[in-house]
Amino acid sequence: MKGLNRREDKLFIDEVSLEDIAKEYGTPVYVYSGSKLKENLKGYLSSIREKDKICYSVKSNSNIHLLELLADLGSGFDVVSGNELRKCLEAGAKPEDIVFSGVGKTEEELVLAIKENIFSINIESEEELDRIIKTAKDLEKKAQCMIRINPDISSESHPYIQTGLKTSKFGILREGIDSIVEKASKSRLINLKGIASHVGSQIFNKELIFENLNLLIEIANNLIRQGHALSYIDLGGGLGISYQEERELKPREVLEEVISRLEPLNLNLLLEPGRSISGNTGVLLSKVEYLKKTSDLNFAVIDSGMNDLLRPSLYQAWHNISVVATNNQKELSYTVVGPVCESGDTFGEDRILSLDEDSILAIHDAGAYGHVMSSNYNSRLRPPEILVEGQEIKVIRRRETFDDLLRQERDV
Ligand SMILES: Cc1ncc(COP(=O)(O)O)c(C=O)c1O
Repeated sequence: MKGLNRREDKLFIDEVSLEDIAKEYGTPVYVYSGSKLKENLKGYLSSIREKDKICYSVKSNSNIHLLELLADLGSGFDVVSGNELRKCLEAGAKPEDIVFSGVGKTEEELVLAIKENIFSINIESEEELDRIIKTAKDLEKKAQCMIRINPDISSESHPYIQTGLKTSKFGILREGIDSIVEKASKSRLINLKGIASHVGSQIFNKELIFENLNLLIEIANNLIRQGHALSYIDLGGGLGISYQEERELKPREVLEEVISRLEPLNLNLLLEPGRSISGNTGVLLSKVEYLKKTSDLNFAVIDSGMNDLLRPSLYQAWHNISVVATNNQKELSYTVVGPVCESGDTFGEDRILSLDEDSILAIHDAGAYGHVMSSNYNSRLRPPEILVEGQEIKVIRRRETFDDLLRQERDV
């Protein structure tokens, strides 16, 4: 993971020793590098034109302190719930830099989006368009919208993180576009400003992005010819990050080509990157509780579980695991597991590590789809989050307490 460096046998994030953080704040704990987060956003911002927009996908990590850092640098935001939208506004985001995706927007969420006049509600179905028109009518206010196309393109990644296939619930199939556009433009309550898509996550093949772009350009051109004044193409998110040894696509190497294809058409670009901004900024620190030997395996039982970081259990996702302070123990092959009563509560198999019973482990690249997917399963308390910038350490979410856990069941 790039935000990390090893000095005198200790692992550091920015200028701070991860061992010191574990000692001071306990484990499990998420730790993020603020400088890495900013660098990742700047990689996008420096590759686009003035009217193009980078709308960070809040679902990947929605801690408000990170949203504030990103908003300060001029990031826009892609939200998938009313509460994500409210968090962005609270973090200082401008409504005209927010897009709202997702197939199940409630009436209440649409009211908020229309009242706040956000940049776009990305329409995912004709039924949703009907609801937007009704809500806009009730509010006597126009809704700013794009249509999310389902391009029927595979992101060539895990089935659970593919969103652009014909069989997926997301977006509108090509054959449905004309009737939606007609309905939207007839209503006069919809300002249709562009078309959107999101093929899926963990994309390493840039040809997929260009294939999707060409499709959107073809659709946009057709609509423009019919007299619709579109000004944006939203290509979604999805650039992959290297959890193991994958070759990452850098924003610039993709965007130069994308922008050169959009330039002659007078279309602006909008992107919704999540993982490629937040993913490699964070680690989850955990302590070894037991080294348990069986006839076949060495288990390292750690104090983080699948409730803290779900990706390995949910997608069989691979995360690098390393020891934060090197010791003299013999290297062995370990199966790294959590304490949750599920066999799927496994972080890695055959990991070559030198461990003792108090070792602190760093699970790398846990900044995206980490804490946001955590739960209280097994009545476990969600871990705190810490932001490091240079030598500065800031707790950006406190550890949950037993009282927090009980309150929602007792205060009823
Ligand atoms: C509509 C939409 N946009 C953007 C993203 C962010 O994707 P990623 O984190 O892979 O960049 C997602 C994630 O699934 C999404 O559903």
